[in-house]
Amino acid sequence: MIGDDFVDLKLFITGPILLREEVRRAGLLPEFGHRDSENPKRFEPIMRNLLAIAGNPKGYTPIIFNGSGTNVLEASIRSLVSDSDKVLNVSVGAFGDLYHTLAVVNGKNAVQLKFAHGKAIDMQELEVALKEHKPDVVTFTHNETATGVINDVVQVCELIRANGALPIVDGVSIFGGAPSMISEAKPLMYCTSTQKSLGLPAGFGIGFVSEEAMEKAATVENRGYTTDIIAQMGKAKINQTLTTPNGTLANQMCVQLDYIVNSETVAGRFKRHEDMRTIAHKWSEIMDGYELFAQEGFRSPSLTTFKTPSYMTIDKLKEVKELMREHGYLFDPGYGKINKELADQGESPIFRVGHMADIMPEMLTEYLEVLGEVLNTFN
Ligand SMILES: Cc1ncc(COP(=O)(O)O)c(C=O)c1O
Repeated sequence: MIGDDFVDLKLFITGPILLREEVRRAGLLPEFGHRDSENPKRFEPIMRNLLAIAGNPKGYTPIIFNGSGTNVLEASIRSLVSDSDKVLNVSVGAFGDLYHTLAVVNGKNAVQLKFAHGKAIDMQELEVALKEHKPDVVTFTHNETATGVINDVVQVCELIRANGALPIVDGVSIFGGAPSMISEAKPLMYCTSTQKSLGLPAGFGIGFVSEEAMEKAATVENRGYTTDIIAQMGKAKINQTLTTPNGTLANQMCVQLDYIVNSETVAGRFKRHEDMRTIAHKWSEIMDGYELFAQEGFRSPSLTTFKTPSYMTIDKLKEVKELMREHGYLFDPGYGKINKELADQGESPIFRVGHMADIMPEMLTEYLEVLGEVLNTFN
């Protein structure tokens, strides 16, 4: 039968993620009409709980975009960067680079500031770039999934605003696992998606859109259709989506966000992610030759990156992946492009451990024990 050979691996990659049993079961809830009275039964609590997880930031409205994280990032570019604007895309890794690509392919006047892999945004270098380029809009990544770096979203947004520009944040791999700090950072728009720390399948991009963003969008031409936050907002305000949503995902999201807010609690979820970061860091201390890759003080609570000893190679990490599969796990052998660059420089690769969403500390401890045993067979 179709599906008989689908393997139910425990996903320790950085998204998609392992789904809670209740979320899986919620996939069986009834399909519904998105313009029918059944719709608000799902989307009213979804919107309310999204705001609760965001810390109820005043003046922000969540918009749910069909697609994934990239769709909401593209919408922010199309809606908030005008043809006469300059946009500075600040990158600490592959997903910061993605924002720049989105700006370029949409014909925007875009420049980039890049930091070395594993490094966070440096305030002094950012200030120099802001003074040099005088951008109107600046994009950056809250939590860089390729390197495991978390930036100080408040400090970065403040510096951008102090230099007369408007910040837009990609919070795809952190929202739901740590405070988004929207109230404090006051970004023009904060973007995220379902398949990372929120613990859901992929399928929706989520944008927290400020009133200021709506005013700015009104001055921007050619915003597209599904990428137009003004068209989207018309439906979001009545707890709907602009185009037909994935009803299965909406049902699952309704159940999962209620669990996060009313059962686990938002504070409890954030604390669990911090605890898992501690577990991952402690494990690196007992693993001979393995080191934490991300800059100290800027290490993500939703994933950890490890620099491997000199004898490790990309091919050996692929073997590790297959050995971990035999134990029922999906291992993440690191971001391909970074490891290729490291190999070109004669350096050993990095790998990632995703500890986001509904992975529990004891599950992570068990995973790291098995991983340690597997890694120690290599030298
Ligand atoms: C930080 C970050 N931004 C953007 C994206 C792109 O999101 P998606 O794959 O949902 O389109 C990802 C995906 O991993 C990500 O981690």
